[in-house]
Amino acid sequence: YSARNLTLHPMQTTIGKDIKYASMLLQQGEIVAIPTETVYGLAANALNEDAVLRIYEAKQRPRFNPLILHVDSFEKFDTYAQDIPDACYRLAERFSPGPLTFLLPKKNNVPDLVTAGSDHVALRVPAHPFALELLKSIDFPLAAPSANPSGYVSPVTARHVYDGLHGRIPYILDGGPCQVGLESTIIGFEDGKVVLHRYGAVTAEDMEARSGCPVVTKHSDDHPLTPGKLKSHYAPALPLFVGDIPELMKRFGDKRLAVISFRQRYVDPAPDYAFVLSPSGDLHEAARKLFHTMRDIDAIDADVILAELFPEQGLGLAINDRLHRAQSLFR
Ligand code: TXA
Ligand code: MG
Repeated sequence: YSARNLTLHPMQTTIGKDIKYASMLLQQGEIVAIPTETVYGLAANALNEDAVLRIYEAKQRPRFNPLILHVDSFEKFDTYAQDIPDACYRLAERFSPGPLTFLLPKKNNVPDLVTAGSDHVALRVPAHPFALELLKSIDFPLAAPSANPSGYVSPVTARHVYDGLHGRIPYILDGGPCQVGLESTIIGFEDGKVVLHRYGAVTAEDMEARSGCPVVTKHSDDHPLTPGKLKSHYAPALPLFVGDIPELMKRFGDKRLAVISFRQRYVDPAPDYAFVLSPSGDLHEAARKLFHTMRDIDAIDADVILAELFPEQGLGLAINDRLHRAQSLFR
């Protein structure tokens, strides 16, 4: 899998719907891209360090960035984690399977390579039927980050995975377009509180109502050295700027502009390319289309992407978080 080996022996990457074949490859220690309801994951046997290493290599992911462990039921959480608070079970009963990841103190059977040396492990039950069937067919958990080259936008179709990783992985299990379209919400537990580490489709309000605990947000920029909170993530190839569209259009007036907006179409002046994510104002629809749209824009002849801020509520918070992470650092 080294860069040199890849140029000499690029491997054939196949896309298909054969869950049994995917299961066989995983049992042999291979890596396989799998569909989940959030984004596609690049999966391997989490208990096999050689297999897990292949994930890091195929993605060119820094070793200090840990991987989520996927299991088929929250009843398996205590196989890999300990000191699980009641609030975790209250939330898992409601939101697992689903787009919610739990950070819990790990047991010794979880390899340090998976958690990047942390004493906490991230656990999730994905809600996609193919992922669940696959997990039920094997007797080990699947370590899986998003199936994109490190630093690029997460894939929400099998084709997106192929575009980024072909030649580096043997198989992509095609489960259709992802229904959520943004990575899972990530939470931990501290002093009777739920700590929100990454915004996603399960919102703070949802979790407060269900857990009876206050939800506090750890902003990603507060702890730039904590794994998983590196600022440059999810970025398209073109420079992207977030803010007031008419103002930004004035500033970049001489460039070919692609504008991402929620429900409003900007007409005066009109950008070269306009992507309205949900004319009816549905944040779920907008979230589902966001990464798709960023990738589509990378394939056209625009110079700059401008995006407006979404409503600061519910899924709008997750969308704004991803837009900010995609934003160019050099302003
Ligand atoms: O929706 C998702 O979560 C998708 C699907 C495939 O499940 N996965 C995903 O994985 O987005 P990834 O690796 O792209 O993002 C997971 C984030 C990373 O930022 C990682 O640093 C963080 O979770 N993470 C994983 N394990 C952790 C740990 N033990 N402690 C702290 N952060 C952790
Ligand atoms: Mg990722």
